[in-house]
Amino acid sequence: MLPAIAWKNGALVMVDQRRLPWKEEYLTLKTVEEVARAIEDMVIRGAPAIGIAAAYGLALGILNLGPGDNAERAFDKFYRRLWRTRPTARNLFWALERMKRVYEENRGRKLAELKRVLLAEARAIEKEDLEINRKIGENGASLVPEGATILTHCNAGALATAGYGTALGVIRSAFARRKKIRVLACETRPFLQGARLTVWELTKDKIPVTLITDNMAGWLMRRGEVGLVIVGADRIARNGDTANKIGTYSLAVLARQHRLPFYVAAPLSTFDFSLKSGQDIPIEERRAEEVRRIGGQLITVPEVPVKNPAFDVTPGRLISAIITEKGIIRPPFTPAIAKLKLRG
Ligand code: MRU
Repeated sequence: MLPAIAWKNGALVMVDQRRLPWKEEYLTLKTVEEVARAIEDMVIRGAPAIGIAAAYGLALGILNLGPGDNAERAFDKFYRRLWRTRPTARNLFWALERMKRVYEENRGRKLAELKRVLLAEARAIEKEDLEINRKIGENGASLVPEGATILTHCNAGALATAGYGTALGVIRSAFARRKKIRVLACETRPFLQGARLTVWELTKDKIPVTLITDNMAGWLMRRGEVGLVIVGADRIARNGDTANKIGTYSLAVLARQHRLPFYVAAPLSTFDFSLKSGQDIPIEERRAEEVRRIGGQLITVPEVPVKNPAFDVTPGRLISAIITEKGIIRPPFTPAIAKLKLRG
């Protein structure tokens, strides 16, 4: 297990995920602006990890204040800066809102006390996420048959969370139960989270993994070489519609066509209970250069127009089950998610 993020000596340390798997380089961040840029530039990515980074970022901003500073104004500024970093992952806003509640409960207290409670809350968010992932793993392991080949997309692993992972948490848990499983990792263009991060994580854990390009999934399903699909999530609406890395929707359609189970693994902090359906989930559009280049190398005509939606939305009706820390829910998702909310 690899910590993607850690609080060390009054600063936030994270592995630079843009450099993996070639270089294991750790960056030490000391300001809100540095944390915000690290989220925007994908030094750290993955819904739960983004939330944890933002929570620590807020704490860091307040820790840097001196006696003459206006904590109220500063908190508001930091909060708004971090809020703007990436639009899709619900966990970012969930973590910021949680930090804001703690701030408001402690408003008016001495600055030293404010610093203490905000750092403690960020630490709690991180610690809880690790425990949650272990539970998701335990809950989901029963869905993985002995000898299964599991297809996954993007990276929903230790690097995307406080540790262990959501989709990869289920895979880790099945592997720990000595099930003879094999993972097919989609490379995940354009940022290659599958090729670079999922393959790296699973190789480190000695979990058998085979890399495929994104366009191979359908054919491998057709040939009977895929048993099930497990992916993570960035935001889940009240009806089960799920935003996740671009390409997830295509995999869900293919899985349905080939009658394969399609599972989403996610914590409650990924659910957006304010959204009736996935229609209103904001989809991040990233820089064109991410598509025009691979590893810095131009692969097309430099001025070609490009589309780069970073996420898509899979309709709940294509999802066989959602694995959470509170248990597994199945369609119809609207009542199941309403019940889940009450247990959260
Ligand atoms: O753009 P990214 O790398 O932040 O996208 C990450 C994903 O889509 C993950 O599948 C999702 O955040 C779940 S991570 C446990």
